[in-house]
This record gives sequence, structure tokens and C-alpha cells, in this order.
Amino acid sequence: MSPATTIAPGAILLHRYLSLDTQRALAEQCRILMDGAVPAYVPVVRGGGKMHVRMLCLGRHWNGKSYTYESTRTDFDGLPVPALPDNLRALASECASAAGMTLAADLCILNHYDAGGRMGLHQDKDESEKSIAAGLPVVSVSIGDTARFLFGGLRRRDPVMALTLDSGDAFVFGGPARLRFHGVSRTVPETAPRELGLSGRFNLTLRQYDV
Ligand code: SIN
Ligand code: MN
Repeated sequence: MSPATTIAPGAILLHRYLSLDTQRALAEQCRILMDGAVPAYVPVVRGGGKMHVRMLCLGRHWNGKSYTYESTRTDFDGLPVPALPDNLRALASECASAAGMTLAADLCILNHYDAGGRMGLHQDKDESEKSIAAGLPVVSVSIGDTARFLFGGLRRRDPVMALTLDSGDAFVFGGPARLRFHGVSRTVPETAPRELGLSGRFNLTLRQYDV
């Protein structure tokens, strides 16, 4: 079992938490979901800019124009959001509990980063007020290429630390860390374990909207 490292109060890194077999199965599941009947897409956000990831939401759809959750993808193609698979819900509670927290996830944002993938500094704050007030964590699972993950404070201008998220890592941030700014400055191409047959990086963030 991998050690749990406390990065900051409420922020726990479970390094190499997932076995290679689990990573392989998740990579395959993510691929199938992203190329499924309701496919992943590159969101265009409020200011008109394109994100630098391909995204697919499960359970609830995050609308990049309104920064709210909805059941159909009104900012893109109007399709209904696919259900959150049970194994991902179970994975989220397992990771949360390994980090000393609880989570009954009802949505997942699945992102794929190719060699140029990145994500600007932001807060995850579009879940329900109750969920955020309770400090219910976000469980972030990384599969594939290593990422340079930036983890800041509660204000955008606060200092930022750089963490490395490797394939199989789970990063859990809840309680006092729930609203900390974070982002991905880059991925490191060709670092995914060969056994995954994966190009790039998948990241799953599992969250609980309803409390
Ligand atoms: C996110 O903050 O939504 C994604 C973080 C990551 O890709 O590690
Ligand atoms: Mn986020």
C-alpha cells in the first residue's frame, strides 16, 4: 500500500495508489467513454477561449459557459450527460477513505491531456454550497503521463507549490483545502507506463454535488 502524504491540511497525496492492472482497466474505460455515443469534446469557456484538454462529464455536466452543472450539454451538443459508472463512484469513496475523508461522488469530470495539454489555475467551486461548506473532497485520479500539478492557496495570488502527479496517483483535497486554487502547467510526454498503451494523460476528478 502506498503511503499517504499530507501536502497541506485537508490535501492528501496517495502516491501510486492504483495497481498497474487497475490503471490499465481505467485507461481502457476512459478511452471507451470518451469515444462513446456521447463523446468528449474541447470546451469553449466563458471568455471565448478553448480549453487545452478534451473533457467528458459523467453524472452531471459542467457547462463551461455558465460554470454550472446541468443534465444535458446545452453549451455543446444538447446530448444528455452519461451516467457515472458504479466502479468510479466506488473508487472515489475508497480514495477518500484512504485519505481519512468520506465522499459519495455523483459526478466525474474526465479530462484527457495530450502532449500540449494544460489547465489554468482555478478553484473547483461549482458544486452545491452545502457540499463545499461541508468540505466534501474532490478526488483526483491520474492515469498515464506524469503531470506538473500546481497547488496554490485560497486566493489566486497566493504562492503555488508544484507537485508531480504520476500514473496511479490519487490526490484528495477537502476540508480546509477544498477551495484551494490548482491547475496543470504541463504534462511530461511519453512517461505513461508502457503497459497502459496510452498516449497522454487521463485525469478523473470525482465530486459530490448533492449532500
Ligand atoms: C482539474 O483541476 O479539474 C484537473 C486537475 C488535473 O488534471 O490534475
Ligand atoms: Mn479543478
